[in-house]
Amino acid sequence: MPNRISADHHLSLSVSIIDEQRRSLLEWYARAGRDLPWRRSREPYSIWVSEIMLQQTQVKTVIPYYHRWMEQFPTLEHLASAELQEVLKAWEGLGYYSRARNLHACAKVIMQCHGGVFPQELSQVLALSGIGKTTAGGILSAAFNQPVAILDGNVKRVIARLVALSIPPAKATQQLWKLSEALLDHQHPRDFNQALMDLGATICTRKTPNCPDCPWKSYCQAYNHGIQSEIPMREPSSPLPTKNIGVAVIWNDQGQILIDRRPAKGLLGGLWEFPGGKIELGETVPECIKREIQEELGIEIEVGEHLITINHAYSHFRVVLSVHHCRHLSGVPQPIECDEIRWVTLDEVDQFPFPKANTQIIAALRSQEGRNYEV
Ligand code: ADE
Repeated sequence: MPNRISADHHLSLSVSIIDEQRRSLLEWYARAGRDLPWRRSREPYSIWVSEIMLQQTQVKTVIPYYHRWMEQFPTLEHLASAELQEVLKAWEGLGYYSRARNLHACAKVIMQCHGGVFPQELSQVLALSGIGKTTAGGILSAAFNQPVAILDGNVKRVIARLVALSIPPAKATQQLWKLSEALLDHQHPRDFNQALMDLGATICTRKTPNCPDCPWKSYCQAYNHGIQSEIPMREPSSPLPTKNIGVAVIWNDQGQILIDRRPAKGLLGGLWEFPGGKIELGETVPECIKREIQEELGIEIEVGEHLITINHAYSHFRVVLSVHHCRHLSGVPQPIECDEIRWVTLDEVDQFPFPKANTQIIAALRSQEGRNYEV
């Protein structure tokens, strides 16, 4: 009976071949691993920043943000003493803004509770907001070469194929963690985890895995059964709910437009936006805009020409923004359902962090700039 590490009775890895398997992955990584900017650092702060950026965003998108961030906030102290608005501006376009808010809040916590030194204890790292098990493993293995396993989306796919997992990975999280822990090379945890991520990102890709070039092809049960394209099994997904929103670009007589800052807590918290709200049943877009602006800002406006309609998919819903030019008629805007209000020129608007869907409104306004606008 070969000595096996079992994650469950039918998912098991032979101990005798694990060593060989680890060596072949590390040999492949030395040859074919990616040269990524955060891999040149052993500094936990920069590795933490990269891991948070990489949580929901692809490597090629993250790289320029990472470089700009490290220039703007080179150390944990710089980040902790920055204004939240600066931090959100640096994150603008990356999405999932709670990541930026958590980085900022945790930098302050680390300054106050850990003497400004990023903790090395797994439980202390997990206690920081925005850091789950896989991010903690990514940071501790990369920064300190600690033998802590990871299980991000890419790694789940690699392991699911390796053991020919016959259920969707979301239903086998515990087994997949056990397997990732069993595979981890305790002599080389840093390189092993990075290699596993690269294998998932460059060879064991979702659509057309490059199995002939894979260092694990001889160990891979999916490849050996020719079923790599059927694994990982997908959960049936339900369509995203849609929110229809009426949005106002409100002009005053000085040629300025009104923007508001969303409440700090909640979706897209702390970001600026053009005001508006949900279109109620039976309501036209202009009716909705007029009502929302009265309710949210306490002012009267005249709703004019349509500017643009934007379709944008967030993670859990889709929005359709119907945007109209509007003219301010009366009343002083009050921050009734937001944290702050500003009148700004089109030139000034770039200084404020906006959610992605709103940046298209700014682009549409710029493309109409110089046009004599009439409501
Ligand atoms: N995704 C999460 N962490 C990563 C890393 N260190 N390198 C590449 N992709 C990643």
